[in-house]
Amino acid sequence: MDVRNRVALITGASMGIGAATARALAEAGCRVALVARSTDALTVLAEEIRAQGGQALPLPGDVADRLTAEAAVGQTLQVFGRLDILLNNAAVGLHRSPLGAAWADVERLMAVNLYGPLAFMRAAVPPMREVGGGLIVNVSSIVGRRAVPRIGVYCASKAALERLSDSLRLELAPDNIRVVTLYPGVTDTGFNRHTLDVGVGLRPGRMRGASPERVARAVLRVIRREPRDAYASIFDRAFVTFSTLLPGVADVILRRYFASRGQH
Ligand SMILES: NC(=O)c1ccc[n+]([C@@H]2O[C@H](COP(=O)([O-])OP(=O)(O)OC[C@H]3O[C@@H](n4cnc5c(N)ncnc54)[C@H](OP(=O)(O)O)[C@@H]3O)[C@@H](O)[C@H]2O)c1
Repeated sequence: MDVRNRVALITGASMGIGAATARALAEAGCRVALVARSTDALTVLAEEIRAQGGQALPLPGDVADRLTAEAAVGQTLQVFGRLDILLNNAAVGLHRSPLGAAWADVERLMAVNLYGPLAFMRAAVPPMREVGGGLIVNVSSIVGRRAVPRIGVYCASKAALERLSDSLRLELAPDNIRVVTLYPGVTDTGFNRHTLDVGVGLRPGRMRGASPERVARAVLRVIRREPRDAYASIFDRAFVTFSTLLPGVADVILRRYFASRGQH
């Protein structure tokens, strides 16, 4: 899709990949509606985009609340008149084993990472149908394709989001609404500091992540080319391909790698 003069609604737009993508889309001529809980950060970003000549609408809200989606889509339509692109990007991590994590954290993670994107898709599809189509990009993760220890609930939420995307891609094809899943790998944002169990955290590994700007460029590529799914980098694709072709070997390597970091 050509993004010029289109309207995109981005969840998780206050920082990290979402904020970088909002800047990149606005620079390319797309009007952006920005959803996250941090009102101040959204306001500052919207002002920055307007100062550069773009159009941005801050829409503070919690994606775990179903009503946020309806309100955000409603306000986007009221202000910009249409909705062409939904980027389901907001998510949260949980660095506890699924066996020991607080049940409230398990439920909260699913509410943010899975039910949130579903609520936004339910709200966004009717107005997209009205204008003859649209594009939904769901941000998953390479660990949704190849789970690793200790973050099993997060991995499961991303795998479920992939299946949801697959199913809706087929269902929405007759409406000319395309659904794409993006799998970023390790990215240098505050994601691992913003986990539900703040303070536990995975010990930092040796791997350096991609910059959020680099992932934002991958999001723009995905929006322009509309593949059924995509990786943010060739390394991310290689990790998943290797793990799929040699799952037993990948098990051993991942088990050793996480054990060496004191995380079994
Ligand atoms: N960073 C990585 O290594 C990595 C790797 C693979 C995939 N991803 C995926 O990439 C996406 C973006 O992550 P990121 O790295 O940019 O993380 P981030 O810097 O922590 O940003 C997360 C964004 O989501 C928003 N958010 C979190 N909970 C929310 C809620 N309940 N309601 C509304 N907004 C909420 C946050 O804003 P507020 O706090 O203001 O609400 C923030 O804008 C996520 O889907 C993540 O799973 C990240």
